[in-house]
Amino acid sequence: MTYIDAADAPERNIGQIKLHGADAFEGMRKAGRLTAECLDMLCAHARPGVTTGELDDLAFAFATDHGAIPATVHYRGFRHSICTSLNHVVCHGIPGKRVLKEGDILNIDVTLIVEGWHGDSSRMYLIGDVSRRAERLVEVTYEALMRGIAAVRPGATTGDIGAAIQEYAESMRTSVVRDFCGHGLGRVFHDVPNILHFGEPGQGTILKPGMFFTIEPMINLGRHQVKVLGDGWTAVTRDRSLSAQFEHSVGVTQEGCEIFTTSPAGLHRPPYAT
Ligand code: MF3
Ligand code: CO
Ligand code: CO
Repeated sequence: MTYIDAADAPERNIGQIKLHGADAFEGMRKAGRLTAECLDMLCAHARPGVTTGELDDLAFAFATDHGAIPATVHYRGFRHSICTSLNHVVCHGIPGKRVLKEGDILNIDVTLIVEGWHGDSSRMYLIGDVSRRAERLVEVTYEALMRGIAAVRPGATTGDIGAAIQEYAESMRTSVVRDFCGHGLGRVFHDVPNILHFGEPGQGTILKPGMFFTIEPMINLGRHQVKVLGDGWTAVTRDRSLSAQFEHSVGVTQEGCEIFTTSPAGLHRPPYAT
């Protein structure tokens, strides 16, 4: 258990979904904003010839320069500040020596801890010119996330979120990954509830004002099945089809929801034109 885990121990696994107040919303706004600024900063660097390890170094420097801690460093043995998931990698790709090349699609996922609050977000980056089908997958995945977010309001359920995502993704002849889900967060990185990206309207947990969680659909061009490689982290599509993901951290409000990880620079989805 890391120091951060130990400090949060009383907050973990109490079996109830926390309903946060105004101060917590303020904390999440700060953490979410810095997380989004980190992803904004990386837009200019995710280019052909750059390694995923260099992007990781940039994210680490950005975090520490701004008084934040990357939540994934020393998280269950993970050692990096970002996950870099390329092409058929679904999630949890490990940064390293891999050089980005023209035509790659890359997800960068970063979680920054600011004053104890976790901002967790990811976006897709198009490396140079990419194929039309890759570009379309990225567009469908962004729209799937936003449809899931649009379903968030008090009285709706986690199943409403999943159903909105699944219905849209499958209508576009893509598939929704089942084996990874969104999660509650706040002072804890991965908390209850699980946010499945598929499901039935009306099923699951009823949403209430003050709940914080991520929505982070992984969408495949081929079939939904995934497998985890021998490194224990890298999840890939079993059929090696392309996969994409976007993630926001949100809070349920009286009226609907607040997105904590909105890009201050307006770089929500590619092309970022930087
Ligand atoms: N940021 C990821 C998420 O969205 C978690 C990454 S855990 C790691 O929940 F250890 F793989 F980095
Ligand atoms: Co997450
Ligand atoms: Co994440």
